[in-house]
Amino acid sequence: MSEKRRAFVVLGHTAPLTPNFPLADLPGSAGRLDILCRCATEAFLLSHGIRRDVCLYLVIQGRLLVRLDGIFLRYLNPDERSTAALIRKAIARAQDLAPGEWAPSTPGISVRWGELADVRAELEAEDFAIYVLEESGRFIREISLPERLAFVLSDHRDFAPEDLEALAGLPRLSVGPRSLQAQTCIALVHNELDLREAGWTNVMCC
Ligand SMILES: C[S@@+](CC[C@H](N)C(=O)[O-])C[C@H]1O[C@@H](n2cnc3c(N)ncnc32)[C@H](O)[C@@H]1O
Repeated sequence: MSEKRRAFVVLGHTAPLTPNFPLADLPGSAGRLDILCRCATEAFLLSHGIRRDVCLYLVIQGRLLVRLDGIFLRYLNPDERSTAALIRKAIARAQDLAPGEWAPSTPGISVRWGELADVRAELEAEDFAIYVLEESGRFIREISLPERLAFVLSDHRDFAPEDLEALAGLPRLSVGPRSLQAQTCIALVHNELDLREAGWTNVMCC
């Protein structure tokens, strides 16, 4: 079994809290659930395989938490529609849950009612160093990073004031000078960490 070493937390400000949305309209009536699906793809999928050491939290409207755990994850495919179907099952599973208890949905996916502050507390309890990904943060390549790392990203919207409150005091990191799509940031973070783990960081061009 791989130990969890990389975590991503994606804030879905408009994604649905109830499962009555069509899989055919993820950007519209499913409130940009397409973004969260693409983030799941980038967080876990390799060319032929799954990154087992990754955990992904989706924070929906600041109230509902969906956790995907690479060690146990099954049925994650590259297409957005089937990923959305997995998330929809988790949202359906949440409907009769009491606040605060994690409940399993499909293999490797669990759900609970809770807030970003709960995710932060859970990650800190597991000794993750947490960084907020922001365009104006410090360039990730300029700093050394510990082993267990968590990164928080927003979706198509800016971080809301209540998000910033829950993230107070955490360091901000940037992956580059342009404002990028959330899933691209996840891919770049993975690549940066893969390069470091493979010892490629000192290779200079020309
Ligand atoms: C599409 S951007 C958010 C939208 C943007 N703030 C806006 O409203 O114009 C999605 C998220 O990706 C992350 N992000 C985008 N570009 C980044 C960069 N260059 N460095 C670090 N994180 C970045 C941030 O977490 C951001 O909130």
